[in-house]
Amino acid sequence: TQAPVNVTVTGAAGQIGYALLFRIASGQLLGPDTPVKLRLLEIPQAVKAAEGTALELEDGAFPLLAGIDIFDDAKQAFAGANVALLVGARPRTKGMERADLLEANGGIFKPQGEAINAGAADDIRVLVVGNPANTNALIAQSHAPDVPAERFTAMTRLDHNRAVAQLAKKLNTPVSEIKKLTIWGNHSASQYPDIFHAEVAGKNAAEAVNDEKWLAEEFIPRVAKRGAEIIEARGASSAASAANAAIDHIYNWVNGTPEGDWTSMAVPSDGSYGVPEGLISSFPVVCKDGKYEIVQGLEINEFSRGRIDASVNELAEEREAVKKLGLI
Ligand code: NAI
Repeated sequence: TQAPVNVTVTGAAGQIGYALLFRIASGQLLGPDTPVKLRLLEIPQAVKAAEGTALELEDGAFPLLAGIDIFDDAKQAFAGANVALLVGARPRTKGMERADLLEANGGIFKPQGEAINAGAADDIRVLVVGNPANTNALIAQSHAPDVPAERFTAMTRLDHNRAVAQLAKKLNTPVSEIKKLTIWGNHSASQYPDIFHAEVAGKNAAEAVNDEKWLAEEFIPRVAKRGAEIIEARGASSAASAANAAIDHIYNWVNGTPEGDWTSMAVPSDGSYGVPEGLISSFPVVCKDGKYEIVQGLEINEFSRGRIDASVNELAEEREAVKKLGLI
C-alpha cells in the first residue's frame, strides 16, 4: 500500500463535515488503495465538536484511516496537505450586504490561501465548497502565488448531479444513461445547466427532451433553486448531497472521468468560451492522469450564450468587489 495522503478539511464540525469525513475515511475520496490522514480545521469554539466527530471516526475502525489531527490554526492544518477541502465559510446572515459577506469570507480564505502557499505539499489540490465558493476560491488562490493556479477549484458538482438527476427523471431513464451535461458559471442562482451537448443513451438530450419551455421554465430554475427547495423541505441546507458531490469532484480529479463522459468543475479560466481569464468559473472538464482539461470546441447556441454570459458577468462583478475590498 502507498503512504497515507493528507486530507485537510475545514469546517469539520459542520453539517457537511459530518457527512463528508466518514466517506473520506472509508476510502471513497481517493479509492480503496489509498490510506488517508485527516487534518481537521475548525474555529476554537467548534474544536470540541470536531473532537467528538473524531471519536466517532475512531469507532468506525476504518482500515484506510491512518490518523486524525485537529487544529484551530490554518498554518498547522494545511502543513503537508495533499488534498484540501475548504468547507467552512461565513454564511450570509439577515441584513448582510454582499460586500459584508465577501469581506467576512475574505477574512477566512485569505489566511487559508497563505497557509496553503506556506506549507501544503507540492501536489496540493484544493476544492472550495464554502460559499460564495467561486469567489472564495479566487481569494485563496490569489494568496498562494507559489501554487499553480489550476490547483484551486470550486464546487459545482452538486449542481451537476442535481441536473443529471432532473434530466433522467424527465426522460424516465436511469441516471447512468446521462452523459456530458455541463454547469457553466457561478455556483449561484445564475448558474446555467446546459443539456445541449448532453447525451441520453447515446442520443442528444436536448432533442430527446424537445421542450424549450420545460428547459427554460422548469429545469433550469429547478436546478438553480434546488438548495432553497431542500431548506424548505428539510429545515436545514443540503449537507449529505453536498458532501457526496465533494467526494465525486476530488475522486474524478484524481482518478479520472469515465471514458466518453465529462463533469463540471469551477476552475480558473484560461479564456475558453469567452470567460475572462482567471475567473473561477464552471466548465465542462475531462480528468485524466490526475489533471483536468476544459473540454474545447463545443458550439454554444444563442440560448446558452446569454445564460453563460449572465453568470460569468456575476463572477466578474464579484471579482471587482473583492478587488475593491483589497482581498485579492
Ligand atoms: P455549517 O454551518 O454546518 O458548518 C460550517 C462549519 O465551518 C462550522 O462548524 C464553523 O465553525 C466552521 N468554520 C467557520 N469558519 C471557519 C474557519 N475560518 N476555519 C475553519 N472552520 C470554520 O455549514 P455547512 O452546512 O456544513 O456548509 C458549509 C458551507 O458549504 C456553507 O458556506 C454552505 O453555503 C456551503 N455549501 C456549498 C455548496 C456547493 O454546492 N458549493 C452546497 C452546500 C453548501
